[in-house]
Amino acid sequence: MSANFVYLAYLVAAVLFILTLKGLSSPMTSRRGNMFGMIGMAIAVLTTLSLTHNVGLIVLAIMVGGTVGSVVARRVEMTQMPEMVAAMHSLVGLAAVLVAMAAFNNPVAYGIALPGEMLHSSNRIELFIGTFVGAITFTGSIIAFLKLSARLSGKPLRFAGQHWLNLGLGISMLGFGIAFFLSPSWTPFLIMTAIALLLGVLLIMPIGGADMPVVISMLNSYSGWAAAGIGFTLNNNMLIIAGSLVGSSGAILSYIMCRAMNRAFLNVILGGFGGGEAAAASDDGVQKTYRSGSADDAAFLMGNADSVIIVPGYGLAVARAQHAIKEMSNALTSKGVKVRYAIHPVAGRMPGHMNVLLAEAEVPYEQVVEMDEINNEFADTDVVLVIGANDVVNPAAKNDKSSPIYGMPILEVHKARTVLVVKRSMATGYAGLDNDLFYMDKTMMVFGDAKKVVEDVIKALA
Ligand code: TAP
Repeated sequence: MSANFVYLAYLVAAVLFILTLKGLSSPMTSRRGNMFGMIGMAIAVLTTLSLTHNVGLIVLAIMVGGTVGSVVARRVEMTQMPEMVAAMHSLVGLAAVLVAMAAFNNPVAYGIALPGEMLHSSNRIELFIGTFVGAITFTGSIIAFLKLSARLSGKPLRFAGQHWLNLGLGISMLGFGIAFFLSPSWTPFLIMTAIALLLGVLLIMPIGGADMPVVISMLNSYSGWAAAGIGFTLNNNMLIIAGSLVGSSGAILSYIMCRAMNRAFLNVILGGFGGGEAAAASDDGVQKTYRSGSADDAAFLMGNADSVIIVPGYGLAVARAQHAIKEMSNALTSKGVKVRYAIHPVAGRMPGHMNVLLAEAEVPYEQVVEMDEINNEFADTDVVLVIGANDVVNPAAKNDKSSPIYGMPILEVHKARTVLVVKRSMATGYAGLDNDLFYMDKTMMVFGDAKKVVEDVIKALA
């Protein structure tokens, strides 16, 4: 294949990858986005294959990997998506380390040194960066996978001097990297890789299970940079472009998530939050009162309303109540009630968690409205049904300067005429904070498992 044609094919694939990211920014266009991604990847892989000699071996590897990948992807439940993504990232990290080792083992075959010559200094830097970022991504993603799949406790694992130990290891890893740069040999390379593997474990262990989505997106970003680093080593423009797209989009997503949670990125990375250990009682010690009602009361209020906004949260996912809630909104719509769903960007435990659940239940996209758009409409709404959500509707974020979530954007449901809150108890949510919304005169608590309550509401509506 001529060099010009290769450049052209890579350019087309790069444009398709950019269109993929654009498509994935909305549920309406995400299928098309995925399609662009698949076509772009096929072009990139086929073009790269046309440049290589050992096509047979590579095709065999693709067939084995592709078969395992499709079997796993078919089996995985929607709720297990974050842990699957973590497992995939670990493979990207491992691939970066293995490619760097192979390139170092035989630099002539990789075209990064002439026979009898030493590796060029710029290649040594690329190998060093690709390897340590890849190694941290590899073990860090494995720990994230184990925490998310509950094979390891989601609690932050902390010990005295942890940050100092990490700092010491980081400095010695850099030291061995410099030694490798000055005289490339296996000993500093392998020691540096071993330290990076250990660092991956130590960096992720202290982070609480609920902070894992930010970590996954951060590791996603790392895996992209590792791939880009290897792209430089292999002199492959496609890998540099694709790696940079993954690296930068992962970094932007991590930033957006942190901002929506009102957390500093460093605060998440240093860990210790979200282990479920915090539980703030009423700050002044005064016993506050709340009103509770039954599913029948909730059905009566919603059935007689003109408009209802449903606010789903983490509890909806736990109870797997998405199909029931869709059935309930159908029942309300057939009574002439206008029903919409309000989505907070960090409701649940992963980006797009609520969108994915509602899409699974085939809720029409036009009923699903993002926070910025729907916040103006609560004041004109008869009933808001908050189901399994807590922090994302906590008015303290707006009016209590001393609250840890002060400044976090919320769904302003407290402005609606009536608020119904479905949850099992008065327990706090992820941030461990009491919620004044539950004690307002206009609020009625409906205690119970989200799915059971919604099923009872459906019966009452019928
Ligand atoms: P939370 O504030 O965690 O509240 C969820 C509520 O659901 C809990 O108060 C719980 O109360 C209730 N619940 C649990 N299981 C239930 C069940 N089976 N039936 C009914 N209710 C149930 O959730 P949220 O409002 O969705 O807010 C998300 C939080 O997670 C935010 O603080 C956010 O910063 C954080 N976070 C989000 C992300 C992303 S990217 N989405 C990532 C990390 C952290 P009971 O125990 O009383 O039932």
